[in-house]
Amino acid sequence: MTRRIIDILRLGQPDEAVTIKGWVRTKRELKGFAFIEVNDGSSLASLQVVLNPELENYDLLLKQLNTGASVEVSGVLVPSLGKEQRIELKAEILQVYGEADPQNYPLQKKRHSFEFLRTIGHLRSRTNSFGAVFRVRNACATAIHQFFQERGFLWIHTPIITRNDCEGAGELFTVTSLNLKQVPRTASQEVDYSQDFFGGPAYLTVSGQLEAEVMAMAFSNVYTFGPTFRAENSNTSRHLAEFWMVEPEMAFCDLQGNMDLAEAFLKHVFGFVLETCPEDMQFFNQRIDNSVLATAENIINNQFERITYTEVIALLEKADCSFEYPVSWGLDLQSEHERYLAEQLFKKPVIVTDYPVGIKAFYMRLNDDEKTVRAMDVLAPKIGEIIGGSQREERLEVLERRMQSQGLNPEDLWWYLDLRRYGTVPHAGFGLGFERLVQFMTGMGNIRDVIPFPRTPLSAEF
Ligand code: 4AD
Ligand code: MG
Repeated sequence: MTRRIIDILRLGQPDEAVTIKGWVRTKRELKGFAFIEVNDGSSLASLQVVLNPELENYDLLLKQLNTGASVEVSGVLVPSLGKEQRIELKAEILQVYGEADPQNYPLQKKRHSFEFLRTIGHLRSRTNSFGAVFRVRNACATAIHQFFQERGFLWIHTPIITRNDCEGAGELFTVTSLNLKQVPRTASQEVDYSQDFFGGPAYLTVSGQLEAEVMAMAFSNVYTFGPTFRAENSNTSRHLAEFWMVEPEMAFCDLQGNMDLAEAFLKHVFGFVLETCPEDMQFFNQRIDNSVLATAENIINNQFERITYTEVIALLEKADCSFEYPVSWGLDLQSEHERYLAEQLFKKPVIVTDYPVGIKAFYMRLNDDEKTVRAMDVLAPKIGEIIGGSQREERLEVLERRMQSQGLNPEDLWWYLDLRRYGTVPHAGFGLGFERLVQFMTGMGNIRDVIPFPRTPLSAEF
């Protein structure tokens, strides 16, 4: 039976007979024998395979076994004489599945720039860095499910196609089956969506929150974890047009409980990844960002700072550094401000609460001062906003008023308002940008490098 290379590296014993399948990373020919390193994606480290001339077709094999070739190797494990590894595989039978022409296969050099690797998005996962990124990404997702399942949250699946613009920012991708060469028009020359597939305009979701609220009003604690889409034309290292979001929603919960959950949640995910991906995390610390491990320990062991927006503005006004965006009460915090708080001032994650009503979405609960809402953003060093959430407005009249003042028609969200008409309860939730979490965890500078197939303005090739 084929063994995973990670299991062999951890547990394999001399004289054990094993079969592995994977891709050649390197080949070294010496006098009378050769080594290949084979990687199957299960771990950062590859398994060293020794080839002796007694192997059938030895000379032909050496010609075929170039970087990128796919192989199956059977043989016995032997203690390695090299210092790099404990154990290696002495090949007895070797089969090449597919060659990779060294003249053309782009992954020849040991190190390529991430910019270059983005141009070969179909191959970059075969490199050490991307192998580590996607194993850690998988561990983060596992940790997320584990965290919520252990606490009795129901995993719900919110729709990708929706009618609502939850965040109200108008960053929607339209979903249509209309013939774009011959768009039907109404008498007033508007697009006639009544002839469209859903009988009205429909979009890719920007957030599963509103539907998560529906489910929380039946199951108390729920979470949704899926792709979300935003047509925001920002070409930054922290924005994608398609990103994954984790959104828990809790009935009978206020902002305090929401903050407690967010903090426990991040601590859990960091703890899980440190425990399950030690080699990959070491790799990031050595090769990508030498503060990654210290940051993880810091997250796990220290309480996050909690501070109101109004207090933040006072601190920023006193800060002895000049910001591009001048600070005054009412300003939406920019990433320079967020990073100043998390990196310089507090040197740990900061939860900012009670933002001005004018800069936050309609569903956030209005405070008694009527100037601020029960919002919370978790700001992380190097990343800025990693989580956005709030206590929700559970009072029907206040919610209707908020919608009207933001130019929304309450009738369009009649079902959302019904949640306030029938059995309304205080409730709260948040959204974690999954890729920003993976960036934070790994130290990867660009969000395009923590998702296998990044979608950004003008780019959706692979
Ligand atoms: O702050 P946001 O817009 O909050 C919501 O969508 C709420 N409905 C969530 C909720 O309360 N259930 O987005 C949440 C998080 C942000 O903090 C950020 O980490 C991430 O989603 N995010 C993005 N990540 C990558 N690319 C983008 N374009 C992102 N926009 C937001
Ligand atoms: Mg936000």
